[in-house]
Amino acid sequence: MSFPELINIKSIDDPRGKLIVLESNKNVPFDMKRIYYILDVDSFEKRGFHAHKNLSQLAFCIKGECKIILDNGVDRKTYHLNSSKKGLFIGNMMWREMYDFSSDCVLAVAASELYDEEDYIRDYEQFKKYSKKGEI
Ligand code: TYD
Repeated sequence: MSFPELINIKSIDDPRGKLIVLESNKNVPFDMKRIYYILDVDSFEKRGFHAHKNLSQLAFCIKGECKIILDNGVDRKTYHLNSSKKGLFIGNMMWREMYDFSSDCVLAVAASELYDEEDYIRDYEQFKKYSKKGEI
């Protein structure tokens, strides 16, 4: 599975500030059903360490910055999310690890499905096995 490029998020900037817009099937490449956000993460903490079987997500920093590693089971790529105008599309079967959160970081994630713990793969060896076979 190939690695995504960062997506441009529409931002309407004027002297009063910035207004950022996310729209299903426009700049967000799926129908959004859920949004969650992560904040107040200590700089030494790491989060993620899982993949999803059937979930599209767009991760973006509303404020601050963090790093995200994506791992497709063969290769890894590190992304630096340091602009509220950039989002990272994370598709099925991508192991992710998030770290280096700035103290002001608010990492938001738009997701195509409601929360379902059954959709998670939280064991890296299991993830590698499934991604190698190309089946879940
Ligand atoms: P998790 O997805 O593991 O967080 P991270 O990838 O940032 O480490 O979720 C942490 C906890 O929150 C876990 O117990 C599941 C729960 N959770 C929900 O209840 N609903 C949600 O939409 C999400 C994303 C997590």
